[in-house]
Amino acid sequence: MSSNVVVAVDGTSGSGKSSTCRGVASRVGLRYLDTGAQFRAMTWFMLEQGVDVNDAEAVAARCAEPSIESGTDPLAPTIAVDGVDVSGPIRSAEVTAAVSPVSTVPQVRQRLLELQRSIIGEGGIVVEGRDIGSVVWPQAEVKVYLSADAAARARRRIAEHAHLGDVNTAEAGLLERDRIDSGRATAPLTMADGAVHIDTTHRTLDEVIDLVAGLVADADAVAEDHVAEDRA
Ligand code: DC
Repeated sequence: MSSNVVVAVDGTSGSGKSSTCRGVASRVGLRYLDTGAQFRAMTWFMLEQGVDVNDAEAVAARCAEPSIESGTDPLAPTIAVDGVDVSGPIRSAEVTAAVSPVSTVPQVRQRLLELQRSIIGEGGIVVEGRDIGSVVWPQAEVKVYLSADAAARARRRIAEHAHLGDVNTAEAGLLERDRIDSGRATAPLTMADGAVHIDTTHRTLDEVIDLVAGLVADADAVAEDHVAEDRA
């Protein structure tokens, strides 16, 4: 039986969310949605259009314009803006530097919230972000909060993207994004009620995937019990 659960995975930048979520989704047979990629796609659009990303009113005025399409295959997730594949450009240093201010704009969050809820739909999906368990889908059957020490996160980022420079610069960038993500007024990064906190600092990716896949199996067992009780 394939799972219909929604798995909400929130946490700081570089805590291993993407690798964990893709690993869990492909192992358990669920779809995968990277909401950070949607915020990055919106940011890419603003930069392309020459909008000042620090001008919240200007960003709000344009945020209904782009069509943002997310492909949810965990083995080959895609993201496109108005039909253009932006999976490469959304990882650029320019977009990474601009994404936190764009993400603080309430109209941007509302637009993407609607998109995220429509994709989650009937469930059967692992969703990663900052506010999934708290705002986007508080009714998620499984909620996970991933964290890791800043130094460990910086080392992972450098290992993945050597061009990002040295570990100290990467760590400073991550801490600055944490500060903006956690401090914004609308839907800040927070540990949702009922979330299981996993510190990934001293765990391998496989260990974290095992833990989360175990939570999904538990949630499926509860769902099957309910079905059996309803039949009895
Ligand atoms: O996960 P990421 O680093 O690709 O996310 C990029 C930015 O998007 C992050 O700095 C904060 C924002 N974001 C958000 O505000 N809410 C989400 N659900 C996902 C990402």
